[in-house]
Amino acid sequence: MGSEEAVEVEKTYIDIHTHILPEIDDGPEKMQDAVGMLIQARENQTGVIVATSHYCPDRWAWDRNRYLEQFQMVQENAEKMNILLYSGNEIYYTSRILDALERGECMSLNGGRYVLTEFDHDIWGRAMEQALMSLRYEGYFPVVAHAERCGCLTESISLVESLVRQGVYIQVNCDSVIRAHKRRLHRSPVKTWLKEELVHVIATDMHDTEARPSRMKQCGEILKKYYGPVYSQKLLEKNPEAMINDCYISDI
Ligand SMILES: [Fe+2]
Repeated sequence: MGSEEAVEVEKTYIDIHTHILPEIDDGPEKMQDAVGMLIQARENQTGVIVATSHYCPDRWAWDRNRYLEQFQMVQENAEKMNILLYSGNEIYYTSRILDALERGECMSLNGGRYVLTEFDHDIWGRAMEQALMSLRYEGYFPVVAHAERCGCLTESISLVESLVRQGVYIQVNCDSVIRAHKRRLHRSPVKTWLKEELVHVIATDMHDTEARPSRMKQCGEILKKYYGPVYSQKLLEKNPEAMINDCYISDI
């Protein structure tokens, strides 16, 4: 036996979907609220966060310079807590987003090819597929934000399977995982997708510390218990790490 001993490495979850910048969208109102969210993220074993403010100009006025100012201020606070903060957007899909991405008006995850894409919850499956393929054709890797909210996906696992085969990534919110297990729901698309390993990444979609907080730690425990440590680690650490580093998921 050598002198080397197993070292307990601190777990660091990576949260690729948050609304943590103040005064940009429906996230925190003040900087001190954002700092509270950073503290809560740390308590939830999260060491890396992507600030994915909504890009939906029809709903919220978008000012990229304002985003960057707020980003810098939150980043300074994050650094003090040993949290890495990266830039990005949760981009509401319209036919105009490809042009907006090209012009740098809205942002992919940390400037790479992965694009966190939000859809109208009532969108038809065919329309969603066409939208996602338009992103793929341009070389992006679309990540469907809180896919469990889209009826066309929860009603058709074959559509989810087909999209995944075509290079689409599926993000589910922590709270949806927790809710599905708390209620012991028999028919739960989230549970089915997780069993079939159709989900690539779990994130908080945190907006504050009360109504829509980070529950990453609790979610991590559930994932480990029901789906095993290997898949759990992929969902909370390895796959999101690949996304922010612009690497292929299969490379990890
Ligand atoms: Fe969101």
